[in-house]
Amino acid sequence: MCGIIAYTGSRQAAPILLAGLRDLEYRGYDSAGVALLPESGGEPAVAKRRGKIAELDAAIGAEPLPPARTGIGHTRWATHGAPSDANAHPHTGSGNDVVIVHNGIVENYAALRAELSERGHAFESETDTETIAHLLEEALDSGNDLLAAMRETCARLAGSQAIVALTSREPGVAVGARIGHAGAVVVGYGEGEMLLSSDLAALLPHTRDVAFLADRQLVRIDERGATYETLDGSAAAEVEPRTVSLDPASADKGAYDTYMLKEIMEQPAALADTFGGLMTVEPARLTLDDLGEARPWLERVERVLLVGMGTSLHAAMVGRWYFEQIARLPADTDNASEFRYREPVLGPETLVVSVSQSGETVDVLEAMNVARASGAPQITICNTPGSQTTRVADGAVHTYAGLERGVASSKTFTTSIAALFALALETARVRGRISDDELARHVRDLAAMPEIVGRQLESFDGIAKAADRFRTTQHILFLGRGPALPIALEGALKMKELSYVHAEGYAAGEMKHGPIALIDPTFPTVALAGQHALRSKIVSNIEQIRARDGEVLAIVTEGDDELIALANEALTVPPVPALLEPLAAIVPLQVLAYATADARGCDIDQPRNLAKTVTVE
Ligand code: AGP
Repeated sequence: MCGIIAYTGSRQAAPILLAGLRDLEYRGYDSAGVALLPESGGEPAVAKRRGKIAELDAAIGAEPLPPARTGIGHTRWATHGAPSDANAHPHTGSGNDVVIVHNGIVENYAALRAELSERGHAFESETDTETIAHLLEEALDSGNDLLAAMRETCARLAGSQAIVALTSREPGVAVGARIGHAGAVVVGYGEGEMLLSSDLAALLPHTRDVAFLADRQLVRIDERGATYETLDGSAAAEVEPRTVSLDPASADKGAYDTYMLKEIMEQPAALADTFGGLMTVEPARLTLDDLGEARPWLERVERVLLVGMGTSLHAAMVGRWYFEQIARLPADTDNASEFRYREPVLGPETLVVSVSQSGETVDVLEAMNVARASGAPQITICNTPGSQTTRVADGAVHTYAGLERGVASSKTFTTSIAALFALALETARVRGRISDDELARHVRDLAAMPEIVGRQLESFDGIAKAADRFRTTQHILFLGRGPALPIALEGALKMKELSYVHAEGYAAGEMKHGPIALIDPTFPTVALAGQHALRSKIVSNIEQIRARDGEVLAIVTEGDDELIALANEALTVPPVPALLEPLAAIVPLQVLAYATADARGCDIDQPRNLAKTVTVE
């Protein structure tokens, strides 16, 4: 959560920082701010405002900032202190010559604040962050340079942090630090300029040569390059920039009104690219080249445990089916935030598969630490090359969805499912659970999905009508069985986060054990009733709802006239092989949630209270 950007080089910093903040706004949109080291010298110039970047733009328009070639910027998702101008980052110390931006939580901030106040520091905000600025100021006052002062300061902080700082005492320099899983610090290498950011997205317009700070690393940048250290003061090992293949154009909205609509529509290409990265049809071959040290474990493990959060957890739930059905391995899923605190019983016999599009979700990273401490081999499914999950895991299966900017995930959901399908196939192959012919059939089936999803996206028949019905509803029940259960959960998640309509995803078999009490003419149900989703059982659920005057929107296979007649409304999906039905079934639900949110006038790319990457617990 929170977006960070820093620039130093030969260009004017302010436009670069403000453009970077717009690229980072999905990280949080409670307030935004920048600080510049003026070319003419003197204290940093700070501008910050509550609200979105547009408010900051207006403030800078009214009161222009001085010319500067070094600066930092921040977009905030509030933790300590309400969204306000005073609580917005950047924060300064008492003397105003140190300025910092921060992502994370200073867990001992109350004690630090009391201690600093006793020593005469005056605080201007209610944030935990401001204590860092005052500590840094003291460390500089005692003769340290900025890098050493940052190291000394970090040693005082409890909790996970990502911090970037400037001081007028060292013009042209910015220092960044990462402790724990508060979020990435990515170093961008430009021509005669250097950048730092919480995300690749903000760096791609300037460079594709990047390095990710590891846990407990510090970096100092000036226009000539970067030097790295660890928190204990030794030179950091192996920090080499790598060239990422992500396309900066994928950061644009293009002709679409929202990133989310663009990303929904990009799913055929994202699926095709992910397929192309992980397998070939002729010959039918899997090319999972990044499994690294995890590869030999595919043969040895006795079970698979898949962890993730939110949409990625729902993808993991589909993956569980794949490991069981294709590889015939016992498989289970767990919410990463629950898993980590349960003292789970596992060891080298369990392959832990984490799913995280960002690779930076704190709960997932903490779960991976627990798994590592237990000796379990790990593979991560991830859309962000170089991110923290890819560094912690023994191996990775990358998805090739391109940048996802909408806070609500869409294309990273479907591509994660494709990657899990590939990993289950590879596991089945090395364990001798699948013949060459079966492998070839599964590969052909997945290869056909981009075109099928593309055809689905050509026509939104019936969705506008359903969205208009849901525009005024208060609650919706989403029911699914088997592989359609994760799709019911994901459909409900999309609906609530985009449209703010209360939506519950439920196992259809559970309906009679409680939720059926809710059914009345004002409480509609979306029933996942594709041909493979235990259709006959779902038919009974629909009958039971209709018998109680409940309204049903059924997601059915094309040509299923019996169900179309039984439900009040139906949206159709093309017939596809059983294991891939989740990929087809989610498409109308993504569009339905989008259209409902649009009809209700919601901010689709930046739903209230949310942030794209969740780096605080
Ligand atoms: C849902 O639309 C969200 N974007 C959210 O549930 C997300 O899937 C979750 O926060 C996990 O993120 P990750 O994939 O980056 O780990």
